[in-house]
This record gives sequence, C-alpha cells and structure tokens, in this order.
Amino acid sequence: MCEKIAAGILGTGSYVPEKVLTNFDLEKMVDTSDEWITTRTGIKERRIADPSQAASDLGTEAARKALEDAKVDPSEIDMIIVATVTPDMNFPSTACIVQANLGAANAAAFDISVGCSGFIYGLSIAQQFVETGMHNKILVIGAETLSKIINWKDRNTCVLFGDGAGAVVVGRVESGYGILSSYLGADGTGGKHLYMPAGGSRMPASEETVKKNLHTIFMEGQEVFKFAVKVMDSATIEALNRCGLKPEDIDMLIPHQANTRIIEAARKRLKLSNDKIYINLDKYGNTSAASVAIALDEAYRKGLIKKGDVILTVAFGAGLTWASSVIRWSK
Ligand code: ACO
Repeated sequence: MCEKIAAGILGTGSYVPEKVLTNFDLEKMVDTSDEWITTRTGIKERRIADPSQAASDLGTEAARKALEDAKVDPSEIDMIIVATVTPDMNFPSTACIVQANLGAANAAAFDISVGCSGFIYGLSIAQQFVETGMHNKILVIGAETLSKIINWKDRNTCVLFGDGAGAVVVGRVESGYGILSSYLGADGTGGKHLYMPAGGSRMPASEETVKKNLHTIFMEGQEVFKFAVKVMDSATIEALNRCGLKPEDIDMLIPHQANTRIIEAARKRLKLSNDKIYINLDKYGNTSAASVAIALDEAYRKGLIKKGDVILTVAFGAGLTWASSVIRWSK
C-alpha cells in the first residue's frame, strides 16, 4: 500500500512596515490612554503601511523570505493562496498580484476572505492539495493593511489593529511530521458583530458611504470577545482530538494575536505554562489574517520551535469564523 503523503511547512517568512504607531501617538488622536489600551488588550504599538504600500506589497516581501527559508524557487510554486480582508482591490485577487511580483508563473492563485482565521484556513487548503498529490509546493500568505480601513476617530477599533504579512511554503515532509489535523468552522449568524458595511454589492461606494465612514471596520467588541474566548478553547481541543493528542502534548501554542486577555483565558483553561505560548501583539496589534503567520515565523526564527515539536495554531475572526491546526514541526 502507498504511504500517505504528509504535508508540512518547508519555510516561513514575515514582513511588517517600518512606521511604528505607539499608544502614546494614539493618545494625541483619540480620547484614549496607553494605560487603557495596555490593560484591556496588551497592545503597546502597531505598524502602519506607507500610503504607497498595499497588501500585495507586504505579502510579496513575506513570501520572498519564506521561499528563501524553504530554498524554493518561485517557478516551483504550484499555487498561491492569500488570506486577506484588505485586498489591493476587489479584483484581480491579491494572490494574482503577488504571483506576478514573484514571477511564480506556474502557480494558480486566489484569495480567501476569512477574517483573522484566514491563514489557518489557507494552511488547511494547501494541506489537502499536497496530501492528495495534486500539488507539491504551495505558498500560503496572510497579508493585511488594516490601517486603510480603520476609522481613526473611533477609539473602539482604531487602537486594536496593525499592518503586516506572514507566509509559509507548504510541501511534502517526512511521514509522521507536518500538519497532523485541521479544524475549520463558521457561524454566519455572527457576521453582524464585525464587518465593513460599504464597498461591496450590498452598498456600493458612493459619496454618501464615504461621508458616513462606512468603508471602515464596525465591531461589537464584547460580542466578539465572548465568542473568541469560547471558540479558542473548543477549536484547540477539537484539533487535538482529531490527531489523538492532548493539551499537555503542545510544545508551542501560536494563537491569533488579538487580545492578551483572550489568549490568557485559553492558556489557563489548557493549563499551559507561559513559555508554551507565543505572544507578539504588544508590538504589532491585531494584524488579522497575518497574525498567526507572523507569530509562527518569529517563534521559529527565534529558535523557540525545533524539529518534532507539536505546534498548535488557533484563530477566530470575522464571519464569524474559527480555525485550528496541529503541526509536528519538520524542520
Ligand atoms: N480608550 C479608552 N476607552 C475606551 C476605548 C479606548 N480605546 N475603547 C473603548 N473604551 C471605553 C468604552 O467606551 C467603554 O466606556 P463606557 O463604559 O463609558 O461605555 C469602556 O471603555 C469599556 O468598553 P468595553 O467595550 O466594555 O471594553 P472591553 O473590556 O470589552 O474591551 C475590546 C474592548 C478590547 C475591544 C474587547 O472587547 C476585545 O478585545 N474584543 C475582541 C475584539 C477582537 O478580537 N476583534 C478582532 C476580531 S478579528 C478580525 O477578524 C478582524
């Protein structure tokens, strides 16, 4: 009998824009304080894209680093998946723009819109293509320029988000390693808690929508918070169950970087020590689909992840959606 093909991560990369916006900078823009933002979210600063930079520019930089780390030439890439809620434009997809930037002429390319769960959704899609043998090497990118869809007068949302991109190359790895399980979910009835009203076919852009600031993020923070705390727990357990592992088997949890209180609640329930959770939201805020990818790349490059480690990634986001995966690190 043929041995099942294992799909895993061959290389990682990330990129954040240079400009730093601190909580103290925000104090000068809206009625907020470093103390409020730090205690309620854990965020100290975030990165802001240059006006000339779109999501594809950030995604391309992250992808270049992932390709270099994987020692893979762009021509070897069979597919590019970009997870984003801030695409360069409605069409063509940001993935097609990245494909052209990289010269990855042999790659199929498409975007997915899954909010902050997008990178893990992308990872799971890539896993299926590699495991079936249809493709060998797939770039999965989370890229966001949320600063461009923020209402900078709304203190409820403007303090939370930042810009950045993370990428991985998914391909064949040794049997027993790689992505051991994935779990994806959605509850569309919760979509009303986190959305951007205008700019789509429901409410096309008009003078009126611009005047009313409807091309920006609307969020009921407490509803998302309650959902997030519940789902971080259930999605983690479900991904572990699907590959026969337990919370104590986790070597590193890479959670969506939205709020330290949400992460801390999950950490306590899973009974994990602090050194088994990677947190960088103090530096970048919530970078939506890029957040897990950036955190994974940083943790790996800092030497906090080694071959054989069990990595659990988990996220929640607009949709509402959630996603988790268990990876036995193969590098
Ligand atoms: N500075 C100062 N005060 C503020 C600020 C601010 N930036 N923002 C809100 N407040 C005030 C509110 O107006 C409120 O005042 P009031 O009591 O006088 O009405 C008070 O602080 C408390 O507000 P709450 O909303 O109850 O604060 P909470 O503790 O719930 O924290 C937060 C808010 C941080 C948004 C939290 O609910 C949260 O993290 N929710 C999850 C959000 C999230 O993760 N979103 C991303 C989803 S991912 C994606 O797909 C994009």
